[in-house]
Amino acid sequence: MSIEKALVPPIKIQGIKTKLVPWIASSIKWNGDGTWFEPFLGSGVVGFNIAPKNAVFSDNNPYIIDFYKSLQEGVFNSQDVHQFLTLEGAKLEKTPPSKESYYYEVRDRFNKTHSPLDFLFLQRSNFNGMIRFGPNGYNVPFGRKPNRFRPALITKIVHQIDWVKYLMDTHHWTFVCDDWSNVLSNAQQDDFTYLDPPYIGRSTDYFSSWTEKNAIALADYANGDLCGGYALSMWYQNKYRKNEHLKKWDGEMLTDEHFYFLGGKESNRNSMTESLVIKDGYVASNSDAAV
Ligand SMILES: C[S@@+](CC[C@H](N)C(=O)[O-])C[C@H]1O[C@@H](n2cnc3c(N)ncnc32)[C@H](O)[C@@H]1O
Repeated sequence: MSIEKALVPPIKIQGIKTKLVPWIASSIKWNGDGTWFEPFLGSGVVGFNIAPKNAVFSDNNPYIIDFYKSLQEGVFNSQDVHQFLTLEGAKLEKTPPSKESYYYEVRDRFNKTHSPLDFLFLQRSNFNGMIRFGPNGYNVPFGRKPNRFRPALITKIVHQIDWVKYLMDTHHWTFVCDDWSNVLSNAQQDDFTYLDPPYIGRSTDYFSSWTEKNAIALADYANGDLCGGYALSMWYQNKYRKNEHLKKWDGEMLTDEHFYFLGGKESNRNSMTESLVIKDGYVASNSDAAV
């Protein structure tokens, strides 16, 4: 499947794969007849751009799933988002003594009510679009970029909502909040699973911790019991080291090197290589691969 440039979903998250979507899409061989499983959904940028006919999108973060489920079920629509962000954005701009105080008011409110619109507000005004939870709930600090909810940006978010809602209305997609291990036991031979687990050992990331033990359990499952094809996204190497965990995976490995700049300086140019470990999915001999 060829995707030139990925569209961006409304929810942001660290480790978002927007830039890798064209590479992932062109590397996967699967005829698209079965179900796409994506048990580490995050923002949804990969699955939403691939847009399979049938999909089970899941994550163990209940707020990500509640956000997308609520959009799918019509609990809110893009007009509600427009109105909400306009109102709340104006409060953020005007609340003395600093904007931060209103951000933290919404954060406290979210930790009590778990409203999906508050979650969107936080994800679009926090530090770097991070998702992080501690013992007292969502704990990402305010992001100091100016004018987070100026009209042009709200319109952009509304278009992102419209895009995802259109896909939800025209495809058979299910959103599930669960651990990957409970969801993947449902995969069949003609299904395909895209895996993008967290980095090993960062206990405060996302919604729960992801330990070496979790990572090995996932690799063992994918190498053994998982039905159908899969693709795993994982970092391969950076300036300092190689990812030894990749040795635990049986599939074919593709790599892609990209560069990033620390502090925007040419002299601080660093490279990072990403990998995609692939086991092909079912491709009928006389049909073109849909994906
Ligand atoms: C690297 S992020 C996925 C990013 C996503 N591919 C994107 O491009 O936006 C990993 C996701 O896995 C979820 N996660 C962590 N542990 C999990 C588990 N045990 N079962 C299911 N999901 C889990 C996190 O909540 C997070 O959303």
